[in-house]
Amino acid sequence: MYESFTPPVPPVSDESLSGLALLRALRRDVVSIWPRDAYRNSSHALTIFGRRKIFLLSDPSSVRRVLVDDVENFPRSPLRNRLIKPAIGDGLVLAEGAEWRKQRKMLSPAFIPKGVDQLAGTMAAAAEARVATLARERQEIELPTTIARWTLEVVAKAMLSLEVGDKSRRLKEMSDFYLGRLAPPRMLDILAPPGFVTPHDLLRRYYGRRWMMFFEEVVDTLLKESERRDDLFELMRSALDDGANSPAFRRQLRDQTATMIAGANETTSLAIFWTLYLIAQAPHIQHDIRTEIQMRRAGDTIWPTGPVLNATFQESLRLFPPNFSIMRHVAQDTEIDGRETPKGSTLMILPWIIHRHEAYWRDPARFDISRFLPGAPSPEKYHYIPYSVGPRICIGAHFANSLAAQMISAFLSRYEISLAAPPETLPSCVALAWPDRKTYVKLTPL
Ligand code: HEM
Repeated sequence: MYESFTPPVPPVSDESLSGLALLRALRRDVVSIWPRDAYRNSSHALTIFGRRKIFLLSDPSSVRRVLVDDVENFPRSPLRNRLIKPAIGDGLVLAEGAEWRKQRKMLSPAFIPKGVDQLAGTMAAAAEARVATLARERQEIELPTTIARWTLEVVAKAMLSLEVGDKSRRLKEMSDFYLGRLAPPRMLDILAPPGFVTPHDLLRRYYGRRWMMFFEEVVDTLLKESERRDDLFELMRSALDDGANSPAFRRQLRDQTATMIAGANETTSLAIFWTLYLIAQAPHIQHDIRTEIQMRRAGDTIWPTGPVLNATFQESLRLFPPNFSIMRHVAQDTEIDGRETPKGSTLMILPWIIHRHEAYWRDPARFDISRFLPGAPSPEKYHYIPYSVGPRICIGAHFANSLAAQMISAFLSRYEISLAAPPETLPSCVALAWPDRKTYVKLTPL
């Protein structure tokens, strides 16, 4: 039996919001707009004004219809394009229809488990080297910042064979500024029609250009190298190569590289942070993961790792899914779950709420890894969706699992980890499920 406990989460309101209060809350914390009842029943709607509505869908049949069966009628929301396109261009995340199908088909071979497993050794060595830089003495670190910078370095190494070193701080600052200040929607972003340029659109374009210039330089440098490398860039390059080294090919490669780094880095580093934060409160789980790591054959770095680490990571993704929301747009007037759903409405499928739904999970707020240990019944497909479901399921899920396993293993094989203060960190669901404050942990060398 392992420790199970209930980590604190922000209070949930009893009332539904509307109008200005709803717009304000959307900017502060997307999850907070939904009342307590959303964790018990399946469909809810909030009115922004007039016919502009937001629908929350949590029942398996609606989730399946929107994300699996009828994808073309429920594209990504134009709001999401407005907020993140300047930072990732025309890569896979924002492509739609035939263009999306073409890109996904081209890129999929680069992400198959066999290919990603070949990167596991690089990830393990980079993670190990990073963790080894901590002095071998009892000390405290600020966990989210440390993990975020290290994840960026390990991701850059595994994807691009690139030592970002000094650049990682700058890159992280740029990404923090974009995600923290420019990605959360302002009132005008929500109310203005898609073609209208808001003051924040201009700022997004400015910062987006600087971010993209970095990737342009990276791609140009890597393309000049004649030696073939063993990394994700090489796999993407061969997938996209048009044989002519054309500007269109280079632009594609730049946008996909920026998309993959943006998609991989923040999400995976948050998943690693929440997992370490939870097991810093669970010494038995740490102990057993350490035993699993020791039992691994020398040089055997490939996922799947042991069942305890696997169950711990999955349970952490259930309670604190980094991508807490999947948003879609209603392209045509329709009905969903018997409700009239007008064209232009926003659909929210929130892994956060589905993973904490009282009808789907026993004692949902508790961190309890026995849910995912061998022998436990598998969760129902649409009740556990940290990587989404359907054709647009996260292409990097295996990469993320592998990277997280390497980073967590590198930490736990050197340190006992415990919280430096009572567990008061709360998730703040703005663009991703970030911790709401600095969070220090004590590392005790083993
Ligand atoms: C724990 C880490 C991760 C989580 C929780 C996560 C979660 C998700 C989710 C929920 C989606 C669907 C979003 C939507 O449809 O609105 C998604 C899509 C995507 N993810 Fe991840 N992701 C993670 C790591 C990664 C990594 C490591 C990569 C790249 C190597 C990546 C690349 C992408 C891309 C390109 C898409 C768009 C796929 C498409 O539309 O075809 N993600 N991810």
